[in-house]
Amino acid sequence: MSKHVGIIGWRGMVGSVLIDRMVEERDFDHIQAHFFSTSQAGQTGPTVGGKATGTLQDANSVSALGKMDILISCQGGDYTKQIHPALRASGWRGYWIDAASALRMEPDAVIVLDPVNKDVMAKAISSGVKDLIGGNCTVSLMLMATAELFRQGWVQWVNSSTYQAASGAGAKNMRELVAQMRAIGQEASSLVDASSTSALALDQRVVETMRGGNFPTTEFGAPLAGSLIPFIDKQVQDGQTREEWKGFAETNKILGCDPVIPVDGVCVRVGAMRCHSQALTIKLTRDVPLDEVNDALGRSNAWVRVVPNTKEDTLRSLSPAAVSGTLTVPIGRVRKMKMGSDFLSAFTVGDQLLWGAAEPLRRTLRMLID
Ligand code: HSE
Repeated sequence: MSKHVGIIGWRGMVGSVLIDRMVEERDFDHIQAHFFSTSQAGQTGPTVGGKATGTLQDANSVSALGKMDILISCQGGDYTKQIHPALRASGWRGYWIDAASALRMEPDAVIVLDPVNKDVMAKAISSGVKDLIGGNCTVSLMLMATAELFRQGWVQWVNSSTYQAASGAGAKNMRELVAQMRAIGQEASSLVDASSTSALALDQRVVETMRGGNFPTTEFGAPLAGSLIPFIDKQVQDGQTREEWKGFAETNKILGCDPVIPVDGVCVRVGAMRCHSQALTIKLTRDVPLDEVNDALGRSNAWVRVVPNTKEDTLRSLSPAAVSGTLTVPIGRVRKMKMGSDFLSAFTVGDQLLWGAAEPLRRTLRMLID
């Protein structure tokens, strides 16, 4: 008898990518899916994979949710904080799979990223853990690219400088980035093609546009197109942002590290649409030869690709433009650094909506039902 699986938040960006992937992987053939809505209960549910899904159920109803064996939520942290305690208090003992960060660091929750921590997940599930939470996108993507270095015990600490896409901030932010691009394009249009225009005049027009009162910055609070924003999420302690804090906290929880491995860096929003990139400085526990490092990186999982450190390969394979919409996690620019032969430099890119959000959730579902 297949499990009853309730899906909440399927209309948003992560939810839509999740449903598309579930259709592609025929996950719906193995479950009895029920679609929930916070605002449209009673209306007709979506058609997925060419099939009707029946009537939408009420995502605010503890009794309706409580009939499910498994719930998957991409509805956001506020919804989780409101409904999850009520559901558990009602005695529901089903599996709660969530994209939001609200429960991630709870002691009785496990962060799911099975190509990296299937052992940690399996142990948690067999010990009765029922809250299975997707990790922060940047952390998940870093670990997808470098897992084998951690498994080998070669990582003393990691510094990550991130280049995070607009998609990580939400759908409205993706629109705002393109609206900013359009504003710049429109204002600078007459100067772009005129070869007689000096580059400085073009630059001045672009800067004036970015600083002008009509430039759309409601979501980001600052220009992103033609610029960048070195602050993601809110400030926490010691001058860190919450995004930077997650690098340390979640990496260690995902891997189950003891003793903990220091991870820190600067998280920066850039004008990419959908892929998060990061430049890594890794202090190795010993001087591991570069060919061994490259071999190990390639063994991390089936999706990682080691990109040769050449300009041609880097331009072809190691950018958001090349990776968006794919499950491939390239890592390249791998080299030893001037600081010493136990310092490794690398650059990696991953789709924040796939491995960074939706894919670990659907794979967790498959682990539970298979
Ligand atoms: N916090 C991430 C970002 C979103 O702002 O890019 C994915 O977890």
